[in-house]
Amino acid sequence: MIHASLNMKLTGWFQVGWSADFVIGTVKPLRYFGEDLVAFRCKQGKLRIMEAHCKHLGAHLGHGGCVVDDGIACPFHGWVWRPDGRNARIPYQEDAPNRTRQLKVWHVLEKNDSIYLWHDVQGRDPLWEVPDALNDFGDHVQQFKFDPPGVEARSHWPNLHLHPQMLLENIVDPHHFKFTHHTKDSPTVLSEQIGKWEWRAKVGFGRRWAEGRMPADATLNTIIIHWSGMGVSINVEHTPVGVRVVCINSTPVDEDTAEIFATYWISQTEDNPAAYEERLNEAKIALPQDVNIWHNQIFREDPALTASEWPGWRKARTWSKRFNPDATIEQQEWVPPTSPLRQATT
Ligand code: FES
Ligand SMILES: [Fe+2]
Repeated sequence: MIHASLNMKLTGWFQVGWSADFVIGTVKPLRYFGEDLVAFRCKQGKLRIMEAHCKHLGAHLGHGGCVVDDGIACPFHGWVWRPDGRNARIPYQEDAPNRTRQLKVWHVLEKNDSIYLWHDVQGRDPLWEVPDALNDFGDHVQQFKFDPPGVEARSHWPNLHLHPQMLLENIVDPHHFKFTHHTKDSPTVLSEQIGKWEWRAKVGFGRRWAEGRMPADATLNTIIIHWSGMGVSINVEHTPVGVRVVCINSTPVDEDTAEIFATYWISQTEDNPAAYEERLNEAKIALPQDVNIWHNQIFREDPALTASEWPGWRKARTWSKRFNPDATIEQQEWVPPTSPLRQATT
């Protein structure tokens, strides 16, 4: 257990891979939230994720199962399961499928070249949708073209000892940039929009932002940090040479372990396409520095914060409670007592 006060059975969307990893007609075992799962992409292209163990005698469908039509056949005795989890066919019992047993089917969202799994202990349908990383963040992103992220633009970190809470708290932590990422100065927190399930902040780097000499809607030398629940973060960074969009997502595996998935989209620069690799490598420098902290960090339930840090942490910790499986309606409805969009100074 990471900490007694942190629950790993969080509600929300969580990344479990990339679209390119799930080829049509293939089957893959997965394990998240302490549950064995099977993922398969049917012939029509739709990706399904279900409970892994066959309702007949418990074989794992992800180890040897195969795609049949839009369902999956068990490797043990060939029972075929439909996308809704019901039994379609028992090969040695003509026209008499099992009508009482049903595999649990998980909600899947395929977006941002990624596969997201909806987890909710209460069994509710998804309460929100993950934004489009390249189209929901303004003209300064949409003016650029981005290639789909190849293997070199995707990082997977398994076996980490961390909780998504540690990543989320980055949104109220401008000071770590200087020490963990060796930026010249801490960024200025420019604005925040805190919704029921999503939290967006904008921070600016450099003197012009710090001194309030930039128009509020400018984006140069800023990072928009957008949290969609506690599992998914989209970081949109506007640098002098273009835009980079970095998704940093964490997914609980069991009570002690989580994985991180990171995806990097680097805007194309028509005058210098060869710079892609250099700009990608530059974008990839920061995350290992963060992971080194998170993986070795303990969670301080009662941290020693400065006066200027307290409001941010109180907000982040109160807001994040809504994603716990036993969250009350009051916790889910709570929004901080500030205006939804404000200018702040550090
Ligand atoms: S265990 Fe799956 S068909 Fe027998
Ligand atoms: Fe960081």
